[in-house]
Amino acid sequence: MPADVTYQTDALIAEDIDAYLDAHQHKTMLRFITCGSVDDGKSTLIGRLLYDSKMIFEDQLAALERDSKRVGTQGQEIDFALLVDGLAAEREQGITIDVAYRFFATEKRKFIVADCPGHEQYTRNMVTGASTADLAVILVDARKGVLVQTRRHSYLCHLLGIRNVVLAVNKMDLIGYDQARYDEIVADYRAFAAEIGIAQFTAMPISGFKGDNITAPSANTPWYAGPTLVAHLESVPLNAAHDAEGPLRLPVQWVNRPNLDFRGFSGLIASGTVRAGDAVRVLPSGKTSTVTRIVTLNGDLDEAQAGQSVTLCFADEVDCSRGNVIAAADAPPEVSDQFEATLVWMDDEALHVGRSYWLKLGTQLVSATVQQPKYAINVNTLEHLAAKTLELNAIGVVELTCDKPVVFEPYAQSRTLGGFILIDKLTDRTVAAGMLHFSLRRAQNVHWQALDISREAHAALKHQRPAVLWFTGLSGSGKSTIANMVEKKLHALGHHTFLLDGDNVRHALNKDLGFTEADRIENIRRVGEVAKLMTDAGLIVMTAFISPFTAERDMVRAMLPPGEFVEIFVDTALAEAERRDVKGLYKKARAGELKNFTGIDSPYEAPLRPELRVDTASESPEQAAERIVDFVLGGRIESWMPVI
Ligand code: ADX
Repeated sequence: MPADVTYQTDALIAEDIDAYLDAHQHKTMLRFITCGSVDDGKSTLIGRLLYDSKMIFEDQLAALERDSKRVGTQGQEIDFALLVDGLAAEREQGITIDVAYRFFATEKRKFIVADCPGHEQYTRNMVTGASTADLAVILVDARKGVLVQTRRHSYLCHLLGIRNVVLAVNKMDLIGYDQARYDEIVADYRAFAAEIGIAQFTAMPISGFKGDNITAPSANTPWYAGPTLVAHLESVPLNAAHDAEGPLRLPVQWVNRPNLDFRGFSGLIASGTVRAGDAVRVLPSGKTSTVTRIVTLNGDLDEAQAGQSVTLCFADEVDCSRGNVIAAADAPPEVSDQFEATLVWMDDEALHVGRSYWLKLGTQLVSATVQQPKYAINVNTLEHLAAKTLELNAIGVVELTCDKPVVFEPYAQSRTLGGFILIDKLTDRTVAAGMLHFSLRRAQNVHWQALDISREAHAALKHQRPAVLWFTGLSGSGKSTIANMVEKKLHALGHHTFLLDGDNVRHALNKDLGFTEADRIENIRRVGEVAKLMTDAGLIVMTAFISPFTAERDMVRAMLPPGEFVEIFVDTALAEAERRDVKGLYKKARAGELKNFTGIDSPYEAPLRPELRVDTASESPEQAAERIVDFVLGGRIESWMPVI
């Protein structure tokens, strides 16, 4: 440990605590990640950094003190070995299966180190840690050299946009500080790094255990002229410096309107600089204005840059809301609703191709569906593999379609505007992390055609309010029967209707689809789109599909204006549907001749809050149909008068 560093700091604390705190507060902060397993000496290295900097979290200190009492080694000084044992034990007991963030500081900088488990089954944890890191320390055991996991970790760090890579060849003491062996490992790694696009890295021979080249140059490696690990960590450029150079990007977090005289747009500047008087453009609308004020909690500024939270006021009343991006007027980011991206799947439930997920990119939130992966990547060999879906920890390249335009930049250019997460709409779990590559050209070339005859005009001519009566239930529950009766009644009353029935649609439009989860999702997506088009044409549409998944039924609901989607749960017990077995399919399914049969070996998620529920045990199809028609005509349609 460089004694002078610690003592200078100690002296400053003793003499002038305010000066110390001030200096400490203005230090820059480097976030880094350590990659390797316990065997590579990761805990020892982190322990060494914490120990040498004497900055250990208080709760860690308390835990260590408890431990030291237990093992009877009480004392003021924390024992290095004990500290390392504590870190390793935490890891082994699974306390830090997730990412553990540890904090320490030197005289020059503050550091947050993300300590992530290294095994392949923890890829998602590593991705979390790497996504905010400025630098990665890739640990290699000098006795073992570059391993499969070294490659995997390097690939992930590169994928997550880490610009600074340190190859720490550890345990040099165990190979007698052998330069030839060190050179060989570095050459090995260089060849691999070039393959995956890591153009530059800094290699160093260290021993976390003995402290070689950690804070002071080691006498054991006179042949090594590079920096020590800490010196390198203290001087490496931060991402913030890179961000400050780019054009202005400010994702709007909220609109600040305390009174009628003030209207400002608040957020954290992701990149670039803004000055009062600058011309800016609001995306996705593309409207321009001029910055009149830059307001902060500490008063107005003339200029602000990446990393600062500010409120901007404009010269004009331009529309701007949460999720919009304020950018330099002459260098705006792109806007698109279709992308290619790399996804890291982070959920136990695999990707459902075609399902609608929330996509959160900075402050923007849209619905997005994922197409079948172009390929998945074997993280150990980097081979491209054919894939129908992505399972937990899988990485793949996919195309995504969003329901609204998204303001973005390629991830390689901007983590803020190129990085996103996917969220399951039902469970609210984060299911994937994504890195945008580029917008698909078809998104730019296919435009909405403005139509002169609106959906209201279509409906008005038919004197009715369009609706989708969505029947859902098990096969044989009675959906088609009831839907048929409802259509007849509505038709007789002079309404314009259409019935989409599962068995029929599957003979034509959807004849390419089977009964796997993915195919059922696609089946319902298409039917939803068709039903929506029919309501645009002014029709009352009935659909009779099992539609076993809540997510897809909700997706169709979200496509339609409020009140136009009427979910009707035809609730028939499985035993009863099976007893009726009108088409003899249950019998086949029980005999194992029909796979993925709903209710037998494929799930049915019953609606929790349908608009209507039909209990076929207590109500005849005729009674049910009557009730449904009453609901549709009574409650909804008469109170609604179309306007042309
Ligand atoms: S959905 O699940 O995708 O909504 P859909 O309603 O289109 O299903 O089709 C269901 C009909 O297909 C059933 O009524 C039945 O006649 C037939 N069918 C054939 N195989 C299966 C199966 N494995 N699971 C369910 N229905 C099946």
